[in-house]
Amino acid sequence: MGMDIEIMKLNSEMIKYTSALKVLETQLEIINDTFKYTKSYNPIEHIKTRIKTVDSIKKKLKKKGYRFTVKNIEEHINDIVGVRVICSFEDDVYDLVDIIRKSEILTVVKEKDYIKTPKPTGYRSYHMIVKVPVPLINDNVEIYAEIQIRTLAMDLWASLDHKLNYKSDYTTKRIANKMYKISNELFKIDEEMSKTLKLENKIKKQTKKK
Ligand code: GTP
Ligand code: MG
Repeated sequence: MGMDIEIMKLNSEMIKYTSALKVLETQLEIINDTFKYTKSYNPIEHIKTRIKTVDSIKKKLKKKGYRFTVKNIEEHINDIVGVRVICSFEDDVYDLVDIIRKSEILTVVKEKDYIKTPKPTGYRSYHMIVKVPVPLINDNVEIYAEIQIRTLAMDLWASLDHKLNYKSDYTTKRIANKMYKISNELFKIDEEMSKTLKLENKIKKQTKKK
């Protein structure tokens, strides 16, 4: 009974989250449009967005030991609004992180660098929790959002890991170890490809000058 009331309350709160996603998406599009001109290629491959489902909000609160109430959601869950930005190269990830840090609109409240320090699973990504200002009709609110930034290669690994593993553990240690190794191999290839393309770009620029 109490939970039903909380779901009804949450439904009317959802406008804050869907609006926050719109604001965040627009900010990232503006960054992308600007970013394109500072590099000789388009550093953002694509952007994916999602709003956490009521079911996974419930699960997450339970896991953290809180009851399902709107108040607990607001206080303890900061990734109802989620954006994933896939970049071409690692350098682009850090350049984008820098731009977001300097944003006058978004406020960075937390950063986790799982590229410098990958998770024990082999997961690589840069995570930021930001505060997004949301101009509602009669109110201005601030909503937390999670931005995950990573390269195509990191995303390839994370997508497959997510499909196979999905928040449980791999059935055997051997498979988990194998996934960890694959992550490292992919990372090496990522770096090698990045170096190769940088070299190609450098040569192109030099031949243009002549
Ligand atoms: P969550 O309770 O999962 O949100 O963890 P957290 O709040 O400590 O945040 P963390 O930065 O650890 O991870 C948040 C998100 O990163 C997850 O919801 C996943 O989307 C992603 N993630 C983290 N670890 C892994 C992993 O090992 N594999 C995959 N595929 N994704 C991961
Ligand atoms: Mg999270």
